[in-house]
This record gives sequence, structure tokens and C-alpha cells, in this order.
Amino acid sequence: MYKGRTTSLIIAAAGKGERAKQNKNKLLVPVLGKTCLERTLSVFCNTNFFDQIIIVCSKDDKKEISALLNDKDVTLVLGGDTRTQSVKNALKKVDTELVLIHDGARPFVSKEIITDCLDTTIKYGSAITAIASRDTMFEVKDGVVTDYLGKDKLYSVQTPQGFNSANIKRAYACAGEETFNDDGEVYKKFIGDVYLSKGDEKNIKITYPEDMLKLGNKEVKIGCGFDCHKLVENRKLVLGGIEIEHTKGLLGHSDADVLTHAIMDAILSALSLRDIGYHFPDADQKYKDADSIKLLEHVLTLIKEKGYKVGNISAVIMAEKPKLKNHIPTITQNLANVLDVTVDCVGITATTLEGLGFVGREEGICVQATALLKEI
Ligand code: CTP
Ligand code: MG
Repeated sequence: MYKGRTTSLIIAAAGKGERAKQNKNKLLVPVLGKTCLERTLSVFCNTNFFDQIIIVCSKDDKKEISALLNDKDVTLVLGGDTRTQSVKNALKKVDTELVLIHDGARPFVSKEIITDCLDTTIKYGSAITAIASRDTMFEVKDGVVTDYLGKDKLYSVQTPQGFNSANIKRAYACAGEETFNDDGEVYKKFIGDVYLSKGDEKNIKITYPEDMLKLGNKEVKIGCGFDCHKLVENRKLVLGGIEIEHTKGLLGHSDADVLTHAIMDAILSALSLRDIGYHFPDADQKYKDADSIKLLEHVLTLIKEKGYKVGNISAVIMAEKPKLKNHIPTITQNLANVLDVTVDCVGITATTLEGLGFVGREEGICVQATALLKEI
């Protein structure tokens, strides 16, 4: 369901992948333990927008694709000789208001692309994901330039392409045995205008052998975070989820675990997911005396939804007192457990500020943290 509309997804996977030269369908070759089809499917499944998912496959691949799907609620439909025929077969099974049609060979699709495509479909009834041409384009005949087409009006077509289901079904019913470049062309010929939705340079189609290597490329993201809390009497001092014996503790709405707060902000910042003040507002009573480690666990679910996990963390605690030397190993181990990384991926250092400033006067403790995130 997307914004109150029932929504289906068709993944076209019934090709042979001949140009990729893998001796089998390019969508079913595992790269770093995962096939292209699984990668594509997981991006859509993670959105939770779809009531119905249909994969069009060839007779030869049906068994292998069924095995990959485990217990996922996906309908398999047999494809045809062309992509047009494959999509046509799948559309017969669609019984929702909206449908998105996507090439299984575009695994780098994102939630942003899917959302824009669905919003455009709701607004106009059709949506073609596309990107503006980078270069000037011209037409050539027999090795001679016949016409300069420029670049301003030219776009490269991508998928997903979204439609009001009843209309695209009608369009494909009119298409007969004719072959089209994409779904938008079928819609344009038999129904009406197709509207642009925002694509991405990264949303490439795996087509040639060198594209297969790109499936193994993992993105890394870096983020930084900073936090500071006041030291007062009659409060606990908690750092990285560990309570530390001291004459004073940190003041704050939650447990004021300044180290965990800076780490959370670094993690959120790496994926531009705002900050802890946004996710856990201090006006909300729910977070009064909250255990910051629980908040960190929530932050980890947010980055997982985006397809990332923590690679390593580095943080410096600025505190005049207490001496933290003997506490660092316990803090490190605790954070490593929560972050689900080994201890050598959590680097915590501590320093005094040589008596300078508010930290030097023991009025507060500051932490600066950096997080490196890895694509899952
Ligand atoms: N496709 C399909 N049915 C077909 C042909 C293609 O469902 N009869 C799908 C492919 O599986 C792919 C998408 O349409 O996900 C885009 O097609 P393309 O990149 O051309 O893939 P293939 O046809 O498999 O590759 P090739 O043309 O190199 O053989
Ligand atoms: Mg093809």
C-alpha cells in the first residue's frame, strides 16, 4: 500500500542476459554471495510499499528463482520472447490500483527513485524514471552525422515505470505482438502522455560483463558527531553504556551518555538521517532518563533499513576527570557488542584539556566521534 493505494511491482527477469556473457541469465549469477535479482528485489521489499510482487521469468530459470525467494510472498509468471511480451504476461496478474514495472537488471534502484515514481504516478497516472543526458547527442547514418539533437531535451530512460494499472493493462492489450522499447512507449501509443520522474546516474542496467563487477562494489559512508554535557552532583556518569564511579555525573534529559550520543550522531550523519535531537526530542517524556544504548539500537535499525551497517567507530572523550584509562576496555567491549562489530572496530581515546576552558574546569565532558558505515 502506498499513500492509501494498493500497489503492485512487476520485475522483468525473463531475459537471457546474452550480452553479459555469463553462460546463464546475468540476474542469477551470485556476486559476493548475492545475485542481481536478489539485490533488486530487496530494495523494493525494504520499502514495504507493495501489496503484490510479480517476477516474470523464463521456464528455464523458474526453479532457480523459486529457490532464491525462500518464503517471500512473490508470484512467478512465465515470460515471453521479448520484454514487451514478458511484461504483458505479468500485467494479467495485477489486481491493484497502481503498478510499478522494473528491470531485474537494475539493482541500484533506491527508495528515493521508487517514491518519486509512485508520487508521479499518483499525480499524473504515468511515470517514467529517466535522467537528463550528460552529453550532446547526435544522429548518425552510415558513419555521417545527420542531425545534432543537443542535450537539453534528451533523457535516458530507466526503470521503474509506474502506471495506473487499468490503463497500462489496456495499453498492453492493444499492443498485440508488437515490440516496444519500454512500458512508457506502449502507454504513450495507446493511452496518453507519459510523465518524467527522477532517475539517478547510479541506477544503471547490468548489461555487459564489466557491469557484473559493479555488483561487487560496496559504498562506504563517513559521518561525524559531537556532544557535550554538563557535570553536576547527584547524577550518574555513564559513558558508552558503562556507569563510571565519580563524584559528579552528566546532566541531561536522558542518561546523558555523551559518548553514545556523539556516536549516534556520527552514524546518523553518515547517511544524512538528521540527528538525535530530531529522532529523540528532549521535550518527549518518553526519553526522560532513557538508556542511550537503547536509542543507539534504534539508530542501528534506521541505517539497516537504508542497507548499511557500522564498519568502524572512532571517538575522543574530552574530560579532565575522572581518569578513564582503566574504563576504556570495558566501554569499547560494550559498544562493540551493541554495534555488532569486533573490538578492533571501536577506537576510543580520552584526553584532558590541560585545565583549559570549561572541560578543564571540570564543568563538562565533550565527545567527538567519527563513524564509517558499510553497505550491507
Ligand atoms: N527481459 C524479460 N523478458 C525478455 C527479455 C528481457 O523479462 N524476453 C528482462 C530482462 O531479464 C532484464 C530486462 O528485461 O531484467 C531488461 O532487458 P536486458 O537488459 O536486455 O536483459 P536481457 O534481455 O536478459 O539481456 P540481453 O539483451 O543481453 O540478452
Ligand atoms: Mg534484452
